Amino acid sequence: MKHRALWKGVVCVVSLSLPVAVSAAEMGKFKYDDFKKPSNCGACHKEIYQEWSQSLMSQSYTHEWDEVEYFKLALPHALKLEKVSGVKAGCIACHGPLAFLAGDIPPKPVKEGTRANEGVSCEICHQITGTSEAVPFNFSYNIEPGNTKQGPRGDGKSPAHGIAKSEFLTKSEFCATCHDEQSPYGAWVKETYREWKAGPYAKEGARCQDCHMYDLPGKVASSGQQRPDVAHHVFHGSHFVQKLAGAVDISIYPQAETASAGSNLDINVKLFNGKVGHYIPSGSSEERMFWLEMWVQDSQGKKTHLQVKPKGFKGEEYTIADPKIMAYFDMGEVMEVKDWKGLSRDGNLPEGARIFRKPFFNPKGEMTIMQWFTAENTQIDYRIGPRQSKFENYTWAIPADVAKGKATITATLYYSQIPSSVGEYFKLPADEYAPMKVNEATLSVEIK
Ligand code: HEC
Ligand code: HEC
Ligand code: HEC
Ligand code: HEC
Ligand code: HEC
Repeated sequence: MKHRALWKGVVCVVSLSLPVAVSAAEMGKFKYDDFKKPSNCGACHKEIYQEWSQSLMSQSYTHEWDEVEYFKLALPHALKLEKVSGVKAGCIACHGPLAFLAGDIPPKPVKEGTRANEGVSCEICHQITGTSEAVPFNFSYNIEPGNTKQGPRGDGKSPAHGIAKSEFLTKSEFCATCHDEQSPYGAWVKETYREWKAGPYAKEGARCQDCHMYDLPGKVASSGQQRPDVAHHVFHGSHFVQKLAGAVDISIYPQAETASAGSNLDINVKLFNGKVGHYIPSGSSEERMFWLEMWVQDSQGKKTHLQVKPKGFKGEEYTIADPKIMAYFDMGEVMEVKDWKGLSRDGNLPEGARIFRKPFFNPKGEMTIMQWFTAENTQIDYRIGPRQSKFENYTWAIPADVAKGKATITATLYYSQIPSSVGEYFKLPADEYAPMKVNEATLSVEIK
């Protein structure tokens, strides 16, 4: 069963050899009515409900970019190209699991208000009983809807439902069922779990839950007992500036504290990922933008952006911002846009900014953000791993007519969900791709 084609028509081979109640997520096996609404759970689990409502879990189907990518790109592509036909249902198995399980494929658009809109709901996670895979990926969760809720403790009593203690729920492997994904071409297009597993945090026993669902004292349910360690359902990730803030440290090392007009000043920058349990960016690496801008400002306020010094590694050109380069040609083909010339690869980044990214390539070898159409993405990986560092080098060619006095060097790390060119093209709400400041360091040098 190692190479079960999880995408192909999303037929579940494994279920045939297992008891009926236990099978990997199977399309159309259940009805919407087999699952209660989150508001029902919210009546007693008030705080958890509020946290979940503000998280991306409750918006995994309704968030605008998700809707656009599915309906404008993935679905039409699935209907056109046999090889990717499985994504018609596959995207929904993770993003609108109720619709998938109820066989409502493709689901209605968001405005129709179907239960696909509930996203990754309480009833999904708390009725998952295990996985069909040794190392989970591609929605390989087993789910058993009913009156029993899978919980981390199993020692409480609820007037509304039965409680079963689940080891699986408390493990990172649980998250891996949706957070790792293989494309129909066999490329790993999401591997947050596998990155975590290979890194230092797994060895220290720090689970996904420890960083994304931290424990605080409180009550699990309004009628329940006071407990010292209630799991909070915030699931803050890269959409929350408070989670991104300080994720990577910056230190600046100028070659000297004073420099003279007309000379060259070398400046080195060191970055350290001390907060993230996997690579940054992780997850949807194909479209995440994470970059370093280096600005110098003379004593009169004149600003110049410094270009990063190339190191000469293979594929480095993808990691240095260049507003002239066009990419994403396959999107235009899928949408059948006449005379499509692609979109700017890096959006509105300043020229020469260092981009920490892992470019994905389609079967034609072109860079793509359509992760399901990815054939290759292992050759170039310039992201920052857990507790890893990156060093970047710059030279400021100080103009002869520079204003003398105190000049300021500012190194800023920014993060955005998708290239601005893509956000603008699809007219997404600006807050779905606006740059968020991850960190900033400043230093002054004296110009003589
Ligand atoms: C009538 C109130 C009520 C409703 C409605 C309710 N629960 Fe509960 N639930 C409780 C109580 C009480 C507990 C036990 C609290 C404790 O142990 O401190 C509990 C515990 C749990 C647990 C924790 C199990 C464990 O291992 O400790 C889970 C998970 C859970 N509920 C899920 C749900 C889900 C999902 C829904 C909606 C389908 C739901 N609950 C609806 C009252 C409710
Ligand atoms: C040591 C703490 C830590 C651990 C362990 C951890 N994370 Fe994270 N995670 C973070 C931080 C901090 C961020 C925000 C920075 C970022 O987006 O990379 C983040 C971001 C994310 C994102 C958003 C990524 C993106 O690019 O949009 C996802 C998804 C995620 N984590 C899932 C997981 C999963 C799944 C696991 C377990 C396999 C896990 N995390 C383990 C700290 C952690
Ligand atoms: C993405 C999956 C996911 C979703 C969605 C989710 N939960 Fe949970 N829930 C978990 C996990 C995982 C734990 C255990 C965390 C741990 O081990 O630290 C948990 C724990 C709980 C607990 C027990 C808390 C404790 O500390 O004993 C309750 C109650 C609960 N969830 C209710 C809900 C309700 C109600 C909703 C919807 C509003 C919901 N959950 C949505 C994954 C989820
Ligand atoms: C049933 C599938 C499923 C399971 C199980 C699941 N997730 Fe997710 N998760 C998603 C989807 C889908 C999204 C993307 C939401 C969106 O469209 O932006 C997501 C997004 C996230 C994010 C990113 C939020 C952001 O702000 O960028 C984090 C963090 C996260 N999940 C953590 C976890 C953790 C931790 C677990 C395990 C306890 C887990 N997830 C289990 C489906 C799942
Ligand atoms: C195996 C589960 C899984 C499958 C299958 C899947 N996704 Fe996702 N998707 C996720 C998770 C988990 C995230 C969040 C990762 C992160 O934060 O970077 C995500 C993130 C996204 C995002 C970014 C959302 C944002 O807010 O920035 C989009 C858009 C998206 N998926 C669309 C799709 C489409 C379209 C398909 C089908 C071609 C698909 N996904 C298939 C699990 C899945």
